[in-house]
Amino acid sequence: MEIHSHLAAVLLPVVFLTTVTAQTIGTTTPEVHPVLQTQTCTLVGGCKTKLTKLVTDSLAHPIHSVTDPSKSCQPLDPALCPDQATCAQNCVIEGIQSYESIGVLTSGTSLKLREYLLDGTQYKKVQPRVYLLAEDDLNYEPLRLLNSELSFDVDVSALGCGMNGALYLSEMDMSGSRNSNLNPAGAQYGTGYCDTQCFKTPAFINGLANINGSGSCCNEMDIWEANSRSTAYTPHTCSGVGSFLCSGNECDSGVGVCDKPGCSLNTFGLGAPGFYGRGRVEHRLDSTRPFTVVTQFWTADNTTSGDLIEIRRLYVQDGSVFPSTAETTNGAVNNIPGGWDGSITEEYCAVRNPASDFTRLGGLKGMGQSLARGMVLIFSIWNSDGDFMSWLDGQASGNGPCNATEGDPATIVKTQPDTSVTFSNIRWGDIGSTFKVDGPSNGSTPAPGTGTGVAAAVATNGVVGGDVLERSVTIWAIVGLVTVWMGMFLS
Ligand SMILES: *[C@@H]1O[C@H](CO)[C@@H](O)[C@H](O)[C@H]1NC(C)=O
Ligand SMILES: *[C@@H]1O[C@H](CO)[C@@H](O)[C@H](O)[C@H]1NC(C)=O
Ligand SMILES: *[C@@H]1O[C@H](CO)[C@@H](O)[C@H](O)[C@H]1NC(C)=O
Ligand SMILES: *[C@@H]1O[C@H](CO)[C@@H](O)[C@H](O)[C@H]1NC(C)=O
Repeated sequence: MEIHSHLAAVLLPVVFLTTVTAQTIGTTTPEVHPVLQTQTCTLVGGCKTKLTKLVTDSLAHPIHSVTDPSKSCQPLDPALCPDQATCAQNCVIEGIQSYESIGVLTSGTSLKLREYLLDGTQYKKVQPRVYLLAEDDLNYEPLRLLNSELSFDVDVSALGCGMNGALYLSEMDMSGSRNSNLNPAGAQYGTGYCDTQCFKTPAFINGLANINGSGSCCNEMDIWEANSRSTAYTPHTCSGVGSFLCSGNECDSGVGVCDKPGCSLNTFGLGAPGFYGRGRVEHRLDSTRPFTVVTQFWTADNTTSGDLIEIRRLYVQDGSVFPSTAETTNGAVNNIPGGWDGSITEEYCAVRNPASDFTRLGGLKGMGQSLARGMVLIFSIWNSDGDFMSWLDGQASGNGPCNATEGDPATIVKTQPDTSVTFSNIRWGDIGSTFKVDGPSNGSTPAPGTGTGVAAAVATNGVVGGDVLERSVTIWAIVGLVTVWMGMFLS
């Protein structure tokens, strides 16, 4: 048990040198983190593989009474947890030995998340959310993406209406707010989660009992929230640096410390339903087959200390690279002086979300500062009993084709219990360094019918989506190479 001895090395001093033993690490079940290989890339040096790992949120771990393991410490039991110090003495957090048992499957560079698992004859909801740990297996892996890009391949074909397979960043503390007295477990057990929703409900925040109902807030960059029907990416800002607590109406929308709606870009919602969806004939980007998603964070002066001015999205499918569409029927967006190029800019946010908190709480510049400080990469799959995810894909919100009931989790578990998302080939680094295409392309739609995932010979007149791409894409011509899909010859 390599993990066990590692833990012991870290924790023994805590256990023996202090009298407060804390939300101590239990000894019944070890924590065994799945490895998910990722890569960091530079233009000059190419890509280097990292043996990064995954941990699920601390609250998804068993947390129980020291003396009576059948008694859970969630939700907080006033008898066990009258205050933080007593709670820490009375409760232990146990490990998770099999991440497959919570719907997390990894292999090499690939991560599959499942919403449901068969439990006897019934499906149970597992809905995992996992965080990227550094190679040290103790702390989160800091991603600093200002003036850089992140790319990954995704398969959303098994995500229907109401599902959300998400990949995003939160400005969590890299140690998981580890604290030798009250939270010795830290990132290794998935503590320290925060986001712009500032949820007031968690039993523990940063591993400490949340006695007074605080919310846990921090900047959040939603790189990818999607199913096969609709997709969005959204920066969200907060007034504070790092992770911090809110109380009362500080945690609320409109008056609070974080921007909950964010400055979102959803191509369907902007009036381009033909851009993304199921089927090559009907859509430019066919969500029934894998593709590569590239997100670039451009600064005003092309340095890592400049102001973030643009968040640009590119896609790669069938050997062709193309930007998120600039086609829109939205009058305000169409009227942006100088035109709109299909990306998230201050001008876009100003007209797209006139009432949002985004600008008040820092705007793109604030988002950029958070990206520069470093954020934690998070993967999740989820559906929602409250709103059926209609803000992402529903006719009611105008953001997708799904009707009022299709996204109901009660329907999903009956019609598609094997729903899942697969992320793979996660890379970050210099703009232009994390992806390749097998031939220059002008972004035109290949003829329908080539679509079994085999990269077809693509147009090669060397123009990639006009000036938008000239400045942001580096293309390597790999003549004659036919691959099953992008990621395979990169890995
Ligand atoms: C709630 O408790 C936390 C300690 O976990 C403390 O930092 C915070 O100030 C408290 N909030 C209020 C409003 O008392
Ligand atoms: C929504 O779509 C589903 C699947 O196509 C269909 O069975 C259902 O009747 C529709 N519901 C409504 C309210 O239109
Ligand atoms: C892109 O290439 C295709 C295929 O060769 C061609 O039909 C199309 O006209 C080209 N589009 C542009 C804008 O050059
Ligand atoms: C940043 O780089 C892009 C792409 O190379 C270029 O078009 C742009 O002019 C540069 N901006 C500055 C301020 O140098």
